[in-house]
Amino acid sequence: CGIVGYIGYREAFPIVIKGLQRLEYRGYDSAGIALFDGNQINLAKTKGKVEDLKNKAKEISQKGTIGIGHTRWATHGVPNDVNSHPHYSNSGELVIIHNGIIENYEAIKQELTKRGYIFHSDTDTEVLINLIEEVQKTEDVKLGKAVQIALNQVVGAYAIAVFDKKKPDEIVVAKLGSPLAIGIGEGEFFIASDASPFIEFTNNAVYLEDEEMAIIRLGKEIKLRKIKDDSVAYPRILELQMNLEEIEKGGYDHFMLKEIYEQPRAIKDTYRGRLLADQGIIRMAGIDLNMEKFLNANRIIIVACGTSWHAGLVAEYIFEDLARIPVEVEYASEFRYRNPVITDKDVLIAISQSGETADTLAAIKLAKEKGAFVFGVCNVVGSSIARESDAGAYTHAGPEIGVASTKAFTTQITVLTLMALKLAKAKGVFSESRYHEYLTELETIPSKVEKALESNTLIEIIADVYKDSTNCLYLGRGYNFPVALEGALKLKEISYIHAEGYPAAEMKHGPIALIDEHMPVFVIATKKGHYEKVVSNIQEIKSRKGKIIAIVTEGDEQVRDLADHVIEVPETLESLTPLLTTIPLQLLSYHIAVMRNCNVDQPRNLAKSVTVE
Ligand code: G6P
Repeated sequence: CGIVGYIGYREAFPIVIKGLQRLEYRGYDSAGIALFDGNQINLAKTKGKVEDLKNKAKEISQKGTIGIGHTRWATHGVPNDVNSHPHYSNSGELVIIHNGIIENYEAIKQELTKRGYIFHSDTDTEVLINLIEEVQKTEDVKLGKAVQIALNQVVGAYAIAVFDKKKPDEIVVAKLGSPLAIGIGEGEFFIASDASPFIEFTNNAVYLEDEEMAIIRLGKEIKLRKIKDDSVAYPRILELQMNLEEIEKGGYDHFMLKEIYEQPRAIKDTYRGRLLADQGIIRMAGIDLNMEKFLNANRIIIVACGTSWHAGLVAEYIFEDLARIPVEVEYASEFRYRNPVITDKDVLIAISQSGETADTLAAIKLAKEKGAFVFGVCNVVGSSIARESDAGAYTHAGPEIGVASTKAFTTQITVLTLMALKLAKAKGVFSESRYHEYLTELETIPSKVEKALESNTLIEIIADVYKDSTNCLYLGRGYNFPVALEGALKLKEISYIHAEGYPAAEMKHGPIALIDEHMPVFVIATKKGHYEKVVSNIQEIKSRKGKIIAIVTEGDEQVRDLADHVIEVPETLESLTPLLTTIPLQLLSYHIAVMRNCNVDQPRNLAKSVTVE
């Protein structure tokens, strides 16, 4: 879900619509827009995509230099036209867009209903805008103050933008939990969930902190206030480095494919300036400055969600194997609510592409409260998790737009590998020659990923064979067990085929019962890492007539004899194999989803940035 707003001298409609399209990658099920033409507010909203909204908006006047727009990912109330944003207040004078959840909306709704308010939708947002209206009336205050008073009565998370017809030169915005950026142009302002909607107009942006609100008034400087105590906050204007090209498809049919192909470059960008193989140095300020914390840690706890959690699992193998530090990997959502034992001798690593995932953010806050040292591995610069962490390392993958994460995963693994190698060196558990071998091998990974991408045509052929499957199994061992999980996740996310990842040896404790001639089994069987054992597992599948698609090391013959299809990846060190074995599985999911006519970049029901718990 996303929000966009404009106030300035240009026509707002095209800016808001384009902005919403830029935010489409975040995932949504309905969209809406409200424009002020100098006289009245014109509003259009609909279930569906921004394209549907453009059609719907033909029914209203598209005039006006003030506008707010929204893409909604349903939390309260089904996705339909009425529940879509923007929402009017009862008087029709106020209009709001909102990301997040108001948890105590039911109680407020009852109170407002008693006072005569009528609700047209099932949303928490409509409750909030009417609460603001009620405060305006009963306390006789201006919009900014009313928003502030109302927000002090709500519990939940939000990024909101509110417009009042009676104050047609301003928009009031506020943030808690969900992201909100303000783009500052000359005589114009932009509002958005991230900078991509306004990057072509300005490089200057202010990111609101939690519990901050801003009054954006034409011809004035932005005024920031703390929602809780009304104290003044000072806007820190950031200069953005993102460029337009990075957020457009650049000739590929889908963002996902573009991002899969960007991985050689993205991985290189991740270690650029950090990995100085010839000097035997890994430079990471966040680790150097906090080396004692890592070296004295009893254990490392990794928290993340989704694909980032899979990168965390790979990291568990890397940190334990290379640096000999005990690691626990947790789903952020479970960790935060299970009263975990955390001490000041723990180091918590939070992994998040967006840096905004609500559960991961909450897990960090909990760990910090208990005295743990928090290290963030994020892709989005300046994101909430990056800001909340004590130290961190960015992945530098560039914007990831496809909802199904690809380059974020491989670059996360790259950063985590660098960290583990650095710690292994500092702990003295690595011989000089082994350390050197890793550093030089890491530098060859981008070209090996390039090589792995060359199997694309073969993978398309394989995709065609299995595109109508209803179930798939993904197996791997050791470092490639998390890759199996990630392969299965990619397939289910974008092609809606049921898929499960398993450690190959666990197959005999259940999943083997599913295997028959209709079941494709994707097995990662690279030369290093329990190869012979995986070969035995392949034999078990074969004798039950399962279809075997194996990811193997270049030149492999043993598996080729057994499998129905093999896809080769170049040879590398065992701990680096996930960076290569993931690639064919990403491409496979991509092609299957395209062949099934699925919306690859914006799969149904999924969101890119999950700012609600
Ligand atoms: C959502 C996305 C996934 C992502 C997960 C965690 O579910 O659809 O692709 O892996 O969130 O997101 P994060 O931004 O924290 O890595």
